[in-house]
Amino acid sequence: MSSNEVLHSELSQNASEETKRQFAFMEKATAYVEELSKELGRKPTACVVTFGCQMNARDSEKLLGILKKIGYEEVESEDADFVIYNTCTVRDNADQRVYGRLGYVSGIKKKKPHMKIALCGCMMQEQSAIEKIQKSYRHVDLIFGTHNIFKFAELYCTMIESERMIIDIWKDTDQIVEDLPIARKYSFKSGINIMFGCNNFCTYCIVPYVRGRERSRNPKDIIREIEYLAEDGVKEIMLLGQNVNSYGKGLPESDQMSFAQLLEEVCKVEKIERVRFMTSHPKDLSDGLIEVIANNEKVARHIHLPLQSGSDEILKKMNRHYTKESFLALVDKIRTRIPDVSITTDIIVGFPYETDADVDDTIDVVKKAKFDNAFTFIYSKRTGTPAASWEQVPESVSKPNFDRLLKVVQETAKEQASRFTGQTHRVLVEDINEQDSSLVTGRMSNNTLVHFPGSADLIGNFADVSLDECHGFYYIGHMI
Ligand code: SAH
Ligand code: SF4
Ligand code: F3S
Repeated sequence: MSSNEVLHSELSQNASEETKRQFAFMEKATAYVEELSKELGRKPTACVVTFGCQMNARDSEKLLGILKKIGYEEVESEDADFVIYNTCTVRDNADQRVYGRLGYVSGIKKKKPHMKIALCGCMMQEQSAIEKIQKSYRHVDLIFGTHNIFKFAELYCTMIESERMIIDIWKDTDQIVEDLPIARKYSFKSGINIMFGCNNFCTYCIVPYVRGRERSRNPKDIIREIEYLAEDGVKEIMLLGQNVNSYGKGLPESDQMSFAQLLEEVCKVEKIERVRFMTSHPKDLSDGLIEVIANNEKVARHIHLPLQSGSDEILKKMNRHYTKESFLALVDKIRTRIPDVSITTDIIVGFPYETDADVDDTIDVVKKAKFDNAFTFIYSKRTGTPAASWEQVPESVSKPNFDRLLKVVQETAKEQASRFTGQTHRVLVEDINEQDSSLVTGRMSNNTLVHFPGSADLIGNFADVSLDECHGFYYIGHMI
């Protein structure tokens, strides 16, 4: 799906000095793109390929906002005049996929010398990746990281003015640059960053190293952006942060706000009909937050609550700050107060020192917590994290454990999904069904999908749908 109109495309009146600087670079870049356009005899095309999480997806919308503003046409194909890979490095296979794409795109560039290739995102924050690209992927024109993405217009100009590979990586930043252009993927829903970075340092995780220290956006800026989006037709928003439950730390005294309070404020924005958030760390999920969700119809009935492991020993080694028992008590509290909520999770198998008995504990939690869905991962060693230097579990142990966990996860999820059969739920229609164009796909408040007969004019609207048949992870239904 192609992007919608560029938001904040004009310089706002109270823009910061840095925002003004970047708008000046956008003007300069526009002239460069016009020149290229004359040479090509058409509008140049740009393709942004996104790996990883919702944070990266939102960052890609920021890149596209600038690309569109300076005169590029967005395309899906990597056979474009400018290709940007927004990378992830949370697991090794994410890295490998990027190298695979780089190999593929070098073939295209050989036939199209004016083509430009850029790399950004989490993987670029790692020195070893930069070294490998410098050595083996010389056709890359621009590399930047997660902390200076706001400088994209400036970096674009530098890239055009230079023959050499441009590399600009910052170690960290406390800067948050507001009011730059953004091109949303969907007209009717949008992610919103409420915080950046992470301070939790789970011992397996690379994110704190590549995304920097946790910093919260000012609540006034968040609400202003949401009001803007609401006016622009957005009905559903997702508040984004690595650990939204610790939102607000470090804000100036006059702007102090907890995540529960922020969520309440966001729900007050008229025209916003549904509010999601991602991700909740179990150690910081407060009773206050549970109350706000329970009392606000607008808050989606879905909590993503990563478990990672059900073994106390392993949780301790992971630096997660909760136990099997406290996690289960939390799930119980949530389900009692919000009975129709879906709880989904992330689980890692094969963490250093993990035994079969530890995985038994994880499986026990899955059965007791009755997760509506769980994303299961085999532990991937990330250089620079504490767990990377610990004794690793061989695949001959982790793989069978992964398989037996997956089986229980799937059984539980299937059982859970069917509990709404026969009910009528309000869904936000997102798309035409990929397999059958007589159907549309809607998303329930609890994040489950339902496919039902309908046409394209329903997209972006809410509909009441009867959930007739459960097919594992989705429903087939009909509109009431
Ligand atoms: N901030 C979120 C998760 C971000 S990463 C949280 O705290 O839950 C998304 C998921 O990737 C994590 O929940 C974890 O399950 C998984 N993950 C992170 N590092 C990993 C690693 N080294 N190997 C395997 N999975 C990992
Ligand atoms: Fe990684 Fe833990 Fe931070 Fe999540 S909370 S991003 S798993 S360090
Ligand atoms: Fe990946 Fe970075 Fe997100 S490492 S999971 S894209 S924060």
